[in-house]
Amino acid sequence: MENFTFWSPTEFVFGRDTESRTGELASRCGAKKVMLLFGGGSAERSGLLPRIRTSLKEQGIDYVDFGGIRPNPTADKVYEGIEVARRENVDFLLAVGGGSVIDTAKAIALGAPTDVDFWKFYNGEAMPQTAMPVGVVLTIPAAGSEGSGNSVITNEKTLQKISVRYPMLLRPKFAVMNPELTMTLPAEQTAYGIVDMLCHIYERYFSNTPATELVDGYSEAIMRDVMDQAMTLRYQPDNYDARADVMWAGTLAHNGICGVGKTEDWASHRLEHEISAIYDVPHGAGLAVIVPAWMKFCAKRNPDKLWKFAINVMAVDPTGHDTEEIISEGISRLEDFYHDLGLTTSMRELVGTEPDIDAMVKSLERNMGKVLGNYVPLSMEDCREIYHMAL
Ligand code: NZQ
Ligand code: ZN
Repeated sequence: MENFTFWSPTEFVFGRDTESRTGELASRCGAKKVMLLFGGGSAERSGLLPRIRTSLKEQGIDYVDFGGIRPNPTADKVYEGIEVARRENVDFLLAVGGGSVIDTAKAIALGAPTDVDFWKFYNGEAMPQTAMPVGVVLTIPAAGSEGSGNSVITNEKTLQKISVRYPMLLRPKFAVMNPELTMTLPAEQTAYGIVDMLCHIYERYFSNTPATELVDGYSEAIMRDVMDQAMTLRYQPDNYDARADVMWAGTLAHNGICGVGKTEDWASHRLEHEISAIYDVPHGAGLAVIVPAWMKFCAKRNPDKLWKFAINVMAVDPTGHDTEEIISEGISRLEDFYHDLGLTTSMRELVGTEPDIDAMVKSLERNMGKVLGNYVPLSMEDCREIYHMAL
């Protein structure tokens, strides 16, 4: 195991009716005027936003609405939010939604207090020194942004989707997590979220760092449980216990505990971000396409962890089979799992046209340089091959 620092200051408030405590939590953070960020309408329709507004009012906290944030959130919306935050003199950002709303709040939190163009904090031209405080009411377990120091924003002008990690600035102050709020999710959104949180664990599990048995062990337990609960939710979408496990798993998958003491990979995420940047598909749907192709590519070059994954997570019985067969069966079971969730593992089918692999590889190199990932360091030609394998 490598040396590590793990700092997770977020207060997680989990369970039924916890959203009624939002005002109290914001008040404890010193909020006087809140910017209430939300998406395209699901939180209004479900009655959640009115309850949050009431909870703020009860604490004497003023607020200004900032809605209409769309999935794969854009830089334009962040610029608009920065203007509103300044004009309205808000002192706290409250994100009600999923990764897209939370990541927009985080981007505004970086951009509002400074004259530096916020995008420079994403494209690497500048380092942020400060950020406004962000709180979260989570409505979809997926991106893990409620517990992460990351934010992912798409710049439509440059067709770049860039992820940044500033944990000391961007970890939310609190995250309200009521599993009941996720029962209004369409089945496909639940599925995308499950694929995403699992991939957040793969990015850390597939590592060459030796002696990580404890971290690997609990990572495997989370992955197995998420896959089991995913099947329960296919047929019982209102099952509270399954919703609760999946919601907490989404946080554990990405708050850092599954990566402590290890060199992480992140190639699958970078490969996927190029797909959703160009074709605006859901991030989880893109990952269902990329992950099996990435695993097949890595199988011959670095089989050890894939072998362990096949046996310990995908429950492949190794008796009488060689390493190649075991890994191949593990990947095939993972593909079946994605199909059972109703997702495709074909990039062509996902984007509905012949994918422009040249454009994706070119953009990947511009964003990430010449080598991607650590489990198997990938050249740009390797990435091209993986995109072809994912077709
Ligand atoms: O916009 P509304 O109407 O609210 O609908 C949303 C949206 O269409 C809907 N939804 C959310 N909660 C709902 C609901 N519908 C019914 N009932 C509810 N309770 O779900 C749709 C997707 O929402 P979104 O926020 O986009 O989902 P997700 O949490 O998957 O976030 C995806 C974004 O996060 C980024 C992704 O790249 C993508 O841009 N990521 C962020 C990360 C981070 N900050 O740490 C890490 C991830 O790897 C990921 O890249
Ligand atoms: Zn992700």
